[in-house]
Amino acid sequence: MERKTGNWKVLCTECYNEPISHKTEVMKEMIFRDKYPFIEPDIEANKRFIQNNELFLGLLHLKEFKEPIIEIGCGTGKYLKLLEMSGKKKIVGIDISKNEIGIAKKYLKYSKLEQGNALGSRFKHNSFEIVMCCGVAHHTPSPRGVFNECVRICKYNGRIVFAIYRKHSLYYWDYLLFNRIVKLIFKMKIEKIFYPLLKLWFLFLDGNWADNKLLLSKTSDRYLTPVVKFFSEEDILWWIIENDLKLITKSSICRDSVMTFLIEK
Ligand SMILES: C[S@@+](CC[C@H](N)C(=O)[O-])C[C@H]1O[C@@H](n2cnc3c(N)ncnc32)[C@H](O)[C@@H]1O
Repeated sequence: MERKTGNWKVLCTECYNEPISHKTEVMKEMIFRDKYPFIEPDIEANKRFIQNNELFLGLLHLKEFKEPIIEIGCGTGKYLKLLEMSGKKKIVGIDISKNEIGIAKKYLKYSKLEQGNALGSRFKHNSFEIVMCCGVAHHTPSPRGVFNECVRICKYNGRIVFAIYRKHSLYYWDYLLFNRIVKLIFKMKIEKIFYPLLKLWFLFLDGNWADNKLLLSKTSDRYLTPVVKFFSEEDILWWIIENDLKLITKSSICRDSVMTFLIEK
């Protein structure tokens, strides 16, 4: 997406056209997330995570996070809360949804939060030691454009933590098979009848039992969201090569359905 702000531009490397359709898709996602915000921070889980100094998405220990840190598409601040609880203070979070930013503000003390677009933020080149963008790019019209934006605002020798849906994974088939039917159920406003079934399904998919709030958040994120795209590992490796970056490590979460990459600029 070509977007002029100050003296820099973000180019859509997918279409090179005047991306009016991109704006429409970003707006659709924004309206959708305002209505169905993502999962809120889990303080108890965070405490356990910090106590064990577990790996962040299987990529990086919490104490290895250098500052300043930005999360692009921070949602309600699930990861930012974890970073704050582990002692980080120079943190920025942006998200397209004003409602989610409002919820995140209730949980967060040090993080600077604002509404912003992953396809063109206001930040200068080479601004952050760590740029996190987890589970966001695949909900935008130009995932590659989001990746490029992460690279642009990351400092040289800084790190990018990037997570994206994998093609031909469990989530991929699940989405293809069920998204239309779940959308229909919600359109007919009969979703509550299906809650027990959906809970069982998520127990199978994610290994834990969801309460109604979590169920709604998962269902909306998985099936109702207006924009969902899937990629192969080769696609992302190619983006890394084309941007002249170094892949440090990669792993998977959510039953191999989400690929995670730790990349050095
Ligand atoms: C699945 S949630 C992930 C939230 C957070 N990264 C996490 O893992 O808890 C996806 C988030 O991406 C945000 N998002 C989608 N399109 C965006 C865009 N163009 N710019 C910024 N944020 C966007 C949504 O509002 C939503 O909060």
